[in-house]
Amino acid sequence: MSEILRVGIAGLGTVGGAVVRLLATQASDLAARTGRKIVLVGVSARDPSRERGIDLADVEWFAGPVELAASDKIDLFVELIGGDEGPARASVEAALRTGKSVVTANKALLAKHGIALARLAEQHHAALAFEASVAGGIPIVKTLREGLAGNSIERVYGVLNGTCNYILSRMELEGLSFAECLAEAQKLGYAEADPTFDIGGFDTAHKLAILTSLAFGVKLDAEAISVEGIQDISLADLHAARELGYRVKLLGVAQRTPHGVEQRVHPTMVPLSSPIAQVMGVTNAVTVDADAVNELTLVGPGAGGMATASAVVADIADIARGIRSAPFGLPVDHLTAPEKSPMQRHEGGYYIRLAVRNQIGAAAAIAARMAQHEISLESIVQRRACASNGSVAPVVLVTYATTETSVREALAAILADGHVAEKPQVIRIERE
Ligand code: HSE
Repeated sequence: MSEILRVGIAGLGTVGGAVVRLLATQASDLAARTGRKIVLVGVSARDPSRERGIDLADVEWFAGPVELAASDKIDLFVELIGGDEGPARASVEAALRTGKSVVTANKALLAKHGIALARLAEQHHAALAFEASVAGGIPIVKTLREGLAGNSIERVYGVLNGTCNYILSRMELEGLSFAECLAEAQKLGYAEADPTFDIGGFDTAHKLAILTSLAFGVKLDAEAISVEGIQDISLADLHAARELGYRVKLLGVAQRTPHGVEQRVHPTMVPLSSPIAQVMGVTNAVTVDADAVNELTLVGPGAGGMATASAVVADIADIARGIRSAPFGLPVDHLTAPEKSPMQRHEGGYYIRLAVRNQIGAAAAIAARMAQHEISLESIVQRRACASNGSVAPVVLVTYATTETSVREALAAILADGHVAEKPQVIRIERE
């Protein structure tokens, strides 16, 4: 190993700029910790002329990320461009093919091509590090891969998208509309360029695919994840949840079941007393249920330049030390193909909100349909119907553990009976 680690960074947006700053301000500590001088020697960005408030006086500009990645002037390539194809994929592949280690924050790229890239890294004896790709500044990748290596993991779940958590927190605490809260999150720079990635649950799914592979030793399979976003969550649900002792979070959950590893992203009721319920705003949290440690929750900033840069720089430091872990915890050929556990088999409690027509026998008919499908009700709350809503009474049911199939079939029958005026709202409950 040479005394100097020469770094090239592609992408100088919020995170790229923060990495440049951290490498400069932490230079002497990083050298002391790793035993090597880490020097930024090359960069590329879409608009080199933009004022970024960072000192790039001694740094060479490259025409594009692939030129930078393939150059023999660098030892380590940092990809902060984003996107699951195009320049991000081409440059990461170019770096690995030329034996350079790669640090990336790109969850979409990893969710789609993570296994192929890990194989390429293995073939070329290079490191592929991606701490920043999941939960920003929370070191969950290293926690699962190294810190919990002596555990068998049963479940990993978390609030993995700051934008969604910000929106749900603001809606609940300030009584603001979904649209107002989304506009705020965009203004604050939390949301992805296309916010449907955030609110539709896809960003969470990309991160969950990475966590699942690390936690269960399976190949990434983002296609196997059942994904629902927060776009249909209303203030009525948030308030009803609170009354029932829950809070609504967009969770990514990966869980070992008798049928395989279940992976799902959906709005979820979590008990108000759980650590994950306390996580508000743009903050992320990940809980791991494992046999030796029992339960562990990591909480921290999930988005933002400096927090994400902290994770990128930690990976750079590992590579400077000569650490080259198997990207997903095991050599690629030892990762197993995940057995899929379809969502219909999911078992758990459910919150169901119905707009029930004010007709004699409606409540009895609903209860009968639930009984027919062997669903046991933990609570039923009916509010008074009023003329302003067309004599429709809001009814909230909470079930004991049942299956997704039973709930869907019971609701189809209730709809067919004609007692409800709107599509029912269904939110799964995740118990501790
Ligand atoms: N848009 C993402 C979020 C940024 O809101 O969490 C970090 O991946």
